[in-house]
Amino acid sequence: LPILLIWAALGYLLGSIPFGMVITKILGLGNLRDIGSGNIGATNVLRTGSKPAAAATLILDGGKGAVAVLIARAVAGEDAAQIAGFMAFLGHCYPVWLGFKGGKGVATFLGLILALAWPVGIACCLTWLVTAAISRISSLSALVAASSATFWMLILGYGSSFIMGIAITVLVFWRHRENIMRIRAGTEPKIGQKS
Ligand code: G3P
Repeated sequence: LPILLIWAALGYLLGSIPFGMVITKILGLGNLRDIGSGNIGATNVLRTGSKPAAAATLILDGGKGAVAVLIARAVAGEDAAQIAGFMAFLGHCYPVWLGFKGGKGVATFLGLILALAWPVGIACCLTWLVTAAISRISSLSALVAASSATFWMLILGYGSSFIMGIAITVLVFWRHRENIMRIRAGTEPKIGQKS
């Protein structure tokens, strides 16, 4: 158990790196907190007008989840990989560096699940993409993709990750509660729209 705590801590630390903040600051694109939703994720970085910055945020926020899983798996096996991945997701949502006010976990969830159970990861990414193609709304796509995760886990033979899937779904919904209100009010912006 103490070993798993170390992987939990390492996963959390990796996940808590707010790449969106770092990239927008380095590129002088302004303070994300004053832009769009105020969120630190790729969707909000895109509202600065920089597609490369948004793409880099998506890849790095997803990558940190994948890296947490792959390092833990290589050194300590599957249980450690699952815990490190989940804690990377938690670290992104609740980073100590930002007073625990982090992101919504979508890119990190997709990255960790791609590394943990790649068929499930691909299915979740496709679910996000199809919803986004239809609705053009990032948050709605995230909610549908997160909701589909446990379904894909059961269908594709990764039932052992079921509990983690549920936990991620619940947290993604909790982190999107303002988005959910805007979706219901019909005021949620489309991808790339400023507000
Ligand atoms: O990944 C977060 C996305 O689902 C919503 O982002 O900035 O529109 O709240 P945002």
